[in-house]
Amino acid sequence: MYSVRKVTDDLYWVGANDHRLALFENIFPIPRGVSYNAYLLMDEQTALFDTVDWSACRQLLENVEHVLDGRPLDYLVIDHMEPDHGASIEEILLRYPAVKVISTEKAFLFMRQFGFHTEGHELITVQEGDTYCFGQHTVTFVAAPMVHWPEAMVTFDTTSGVLFSADAFGSFGALDGKLFADEVDFERDWLDDARRYLTNIVGKYGPHVQLLLKKAAGILDQIKFICPLHGPVWRKDLMWFIEKYDRWSRYEPEEKGVMIAYASMYGNTEAAAQALAGRLCDKGVTNVWLYDVSDTHVSQLIAETFRLSHIVLASVTYNLGIYPVMHNYLMDMKALNVQKRTFAIIENGSWAVKSGDLMQKFLDEELKDMTVLNDRLSLASSLLPDKAGELEALADAIVESIGR
Ligand code: FEO
Repeated sequence: MYSVRKVTDDLYWVGANDHRLALFENIFPIPRGVSYNAYLLMDEQTALFDTVDWSACRQLLENVEHVLDGRPLDYLVIDHMEPDHGASIEEILLRYPAVKVISTEKAFLFMRQFGFHTEGHELITVQEGDTYCFGQHTVTFVAAPMVHWPEAMVTFDTTSGVLFSADAFGSFGALDGKLFADEVDFERDWLDDARRYLTNIVGKYGPHVQLLLKKAAGILDQIKFICPLHGPVWRKDLMWFIEKYDRWSRYEPEEKGVMIAYASMYGNTEAAAQALAGRLCDKGVTNVWLYDVSDTHVSQLIAETFRLSHIVLASVTYNLGIYPVMHNYLMDMKALNVQKRTFAIIENGSWAVKSGDLMQKFLDEELKDMTVLNDRLSLASSLLPDKAGELEALADAIVESIGR
């Protein structure tokens, strides 16, 4: 059965929701599912903007067939070739033998790499600034390299003000009937997943997102709808969400607050993390969040690292090194280009306390623009009363730094 929503009078969401996929990109847990968005423009010429993951192909086909209602599909515009959007291209080509495909040169290369058979179809290669008219609607193509693959572009419909934004402005989470961001409580129910999506999928490419935002800045007053490839469509409060993207891609924290990420084998490092959290709250800093790195997915740790200004790393020493799961979190920070945060360190070890120096070295040498507070809580096995002064000093240093 078809399941479509109208975006405007002649533009339809024809995508699909997926609650079966456990791990997006086979890495990221998506307990709320995900949507693969595709859009069908019913102009004098019909144009499908992107496709969906192979698992959702049948739903896409039913949706497209329903909206076309007997009309031919004239154009297929591919903004992004990653298989969660591009996997159904070949099926569209088979079903609509006369469809012409519009995309970038690199996207056509990727189609060949994925083994798609495009023979017999007119392939129209576009680049930055090219325009195309489907009848009433004229669109402009804008290169968006590394948001999130090198071939990506976004397409702006200058007639209706619709920005087909590819992976930009997307979010994890299935739509389940809703389509527009103003049909949900986005800040309460979606923002965390939008942040986790952006920071983990495109976090490394902040400068490229900034480049795209700069291009968009010139036409902000003309953008009426943002239609991403995942998650809700935006037609109200666009600037609120654009500002979030701007902040995330500049690696600026959203909030003053403290994330305490702890790696604890027997509960003693965790107890120190809890004691510090209590001291911070006593001193009036209550935006404090504790995460056990061993049972918090690293994508969640990364998203929270992007959200908050201060991070306390509390790690036991393991094999004379940093606890492996904590090390993995640090490596992911490096991979995703996280920067501009203030850190504090708690270290622990029963017979060789090494983790603090090693974490400090990693922060200093492997990451950019990180500040590490001088005060450190160093434990031998557990937090005993003789460490009360160090604990207090660490809490004071964090409070003072946040207040600055
Ligand atoms: Fe949703 Fe980069 O694909």
